Parts: sequence; C-alpha cells; structure tokens
Amino acid sequence: MATSLSQLQQSVYQQVERLYKTSKRDFAHWMWAHHVPWVANKTLELAQKYDADHDLVYTGALLHDLGDVRFDRDDPQFDSWSEEKATVILQKAGFDHNQIDTVIKDIISPHSCYPGNLPQTLEGQILATADALFHLQTDFFIQFCWMHIPDFESFEKWRQWVAEKLERDYHTKIFFDNERQAAKPYYLALKKVFVAQPLPNDTM
Ligand SMILES: [Fe+2]
Ligand SMILES: [Fe+2]
Repeated sequence: MATSLSQLQQSVYQQVERLYKTSKRDFAHWMWAHHVPWVANKTLELAQKYDADHDLVYTGALLHDLGDVRFDRDDPQFDSWSEEKATVILQKAGFDHNQIDTVIKDIISPHSCYPGNLPQTLEGQILATADALFHLQTDFFIQFCWMHIPDFESFEKWRQWVAEKLERDYHTKIFFDNERQAAKPYYLALKKVFVAQPLPNDTM
C-alpha cells in the first residue's frame, strides 16, 4: 500500500484487504491479488489527471466488487450485502453521511454501466473507466478463459460474453477520449483473438 494515502483511504484499504484475505472464496483471493488494488490505483492516477475527489473515488474502487468476498455474482444478496458492508466500512473510516451516499449511489452502483444506470459524476466515470481499462489492458480475459469464469455450458456462450464485455468496456465504460485512445490497440487485439471466426465444424 502506498504511504501517501490519506487516513480515510488507509482505513478503508485495511478493512477491505482483511475481508478479501479472510474470504473462503478462491475467486475473492484472485480479485484481491489481481483486480481490486489495480483498479483502485488506476482511479488515483485518473483522479489526479482529471481533478476528481481522491478519497471518494479510491474508496469507491476498493469497495466496488466487495460482494465477491461472500457471494456469487448472481446471488440475490450480492448487492444488498455489499452496500451494507460498504456503509459500515466507510462509517468506521470516518466518512460522513453525504460522502457515504456519494460513494455508494454515484460511484459504486453505476460502475458496470448497464443501460439506464450510467455514472453521472466525474468520480463515478473514473471508476467505470478504471474497471474497463483493467479488462482491456491486463491479461484478464486470458486468465478468465483459463479458469473457466464465468462457467458457461459452452465455449461459444463464454465467447459471446467476452464479445459483449469488450464492447461495453471499450465503448460505454471509458468516459475519457485519451484513455479510450490508449486502450484501442488492446481492444482491437483482444477482439481479434477472442471474437475471431470459430473453427469450421468439421475440424472441431
Ligand atoms: Fe464490478
Ligand atoms: Fe471490477
């Protein structure tokens, strides 16, 4: 953890780190080792560049996928538990009521950028962008392919999931032209590899 983090940021980092590290779920360990700190650090970089609130966006990033420590993504308790837990963590760190509301409603809730729930604030847009950049600029898709995540019944379904995620990440979740430009070679390369023409049936 960087030493230049504020007290608020350090408190949330330590609480979130403990939850991921003591989770019984292998996926949570993967997320802490590879995803969550990467996204949080990227939000700090982008907050500096685009003049956003560091405390709010960084803590939002640390908490944005918190449900993974306890639940599968499709579990009905995933969102409600994450929200309750994030509120407790933010209160304990010393955030006030308005800040907690902003982190949860404006930053975490819209980070997936599903239709009708797009981030409207600079901090929310930074988290969505950082999350998308992780998918595009790291070996995320190769690792998920290797680990069979998500566990679809066929490779074709998994490939379809990748195709849709790539489009949402590149076109919808990145809110800054410079960042989209930087991600472009990765997006095109991933598309070439993962959304290539399937093998002809007779060779499968
Ligand atoms: Fe997420
Ligand atoms: Fe994420």
